[in-house]
Amino acid sequence: MSKYLIFGATGQDGSYLTELLLSHQFEVFCVKRRSSSINTMRLDGVMNHPRLEILHGDVTDTASVMQLLNRIKPDFVINLAAQSHVGVSFNEPEYTAQVDAIGTLRILEAIRLFNKNIIFYQASTSELYGGLDDNILDENSKFNPRSPYAAAKLYAYQLTKLYREAYELKTYNGILFNHESPRRGENFVTKKITMGLADILHGKTKSIKLGNLDAQRDWGHAKDYCEAMYKMVNLNKPGDYVVATGECYSVRDFLNVAFQEIGIKLGFVGSGLLERAIVVEKSHTEYETINIKINQVVIEINPEYFRPLEVPKLQGNSQKFRDLSGWSPKISFNDLVVEMVKYDIAL
Ligand code: NAP
Ligand code: GDD
Repeated sequence: MSKYLIFGATGQDGSYLTELLLSHQFEVFCVKRRSSSINTMRLDGVMNHPRLEILHGDVTDTASVMQLLNRIKPDFVINLAAQSHVGVSFNEPEYTAQVDAIGTLRILEAIRLFNKNIIFYQASTSELYGGLDDNILDENSKFNPRSPYAAAKLYAYQLTKLYREAYELKTYNGILFNHESPRRGENFVTKKITMGLADILHGKTKSIKLGNLDAQRDWGHAKDYCEAMYKMVNLNKPGDYVVATGECYSVRDFLNVAFQEIGIKLGFVGSGLLERAIVVEKSHTEYETINIKINQVVIEINPEYFRPLEVPKLQGNSQKFRDLSGWSPKISFNDLVVEMVKYDIAL
């Protein structure tokens, strides 16, 4: 029975991947970093599974990484551990590099020293591209990192490739475009919108404060993307692979679909920092919208949520990976948004 060791198992992707691997009968070793509060909520559904073990560890600590590999003797090591917020990386650039860049180096070195047959997955990202033009991005597109996060991830990407070429390690870079779910971290734009919408519906707040509404992303569902990770590490063809839906929507599009689900039509008025979205129409749905009034401002712009450098548009082409693996996403953009809205309203 193959053993999977997952760094970053308590995050969005880590939790879906753990569930998927357990359903495939593997042994799963989830690394959780020490925290003064509980950080395993996303794993609650599988916590007592007989083939799951939760271990303490931290990718900023070489000894911790070494001990985990030595003790578990895994067949697969999946590195999802990261300070994964692009905006935060401008305020914590050194910490981001320690976790996202040097953390990956620590794992690769441990694999090189302990067992070169281990299959390694690195969580690479579409942020590597910078998204400054309209090009649809694939494995041959040029990288242009525009944040300390992306720069750290580029280092990790290059090392993952380098260890494959220099030491023949079986390494994979999954260049994943944005993927979301009800388990998304609360300070990413999609989750901020669906949680904010639920608060507005329940009368807890009047509006959501956001940054750049023009940003466009190729948004998929984290469940589909974890399926892609699993297929990738079982390809038997180490390499660098883009995973994307191929479709692109703006933050404004996300807002429109989310509010439409509760029967609210938005109108965008003003421009720049003074732009806002107001309620222009209400229609009947299963949701009671008594707390929401016509002309109410529900979206406001707050400059705090802009980044020193923006990444305007990310749209991917994952044909190489699809042809090799047979993978394609099953959950549409609309279904993703509706699932997130329903989940946060129910909460
Ligand atoms: P996430 O929810 O932020 O999860 C990050 C995980 O890393 C959490 O389990 C976190 O632990 C853990 N972690 C942070 N610092 C650590 C450290 N020093 N040592 C060990 N673990 C540490 O991110 P995600 O959305 O699941 O994404 C997973 C990975 O894919 C990340 O590397 C991200 O950069 C990358 N990625 C994500 C996307 C996306 O759209 N979601 C796209 C491309 C690439 P705590 O729970 O304790 O915080
Ligand atoms: N977080 C956030 N908060 N983003 C906002 C907001 C806001 O209030 N308002 C507008 N945005 C814009 C951001 O400027 C960005 O252009 C876009 O919405 C998406 O932001 P995030 O959801 O924070 O995601 P991201 O694209 O920056 O990064 C995510 O995807 C990457 C893959 O492309 C993260 O998951 C990264 O870890 C991942 O690598």
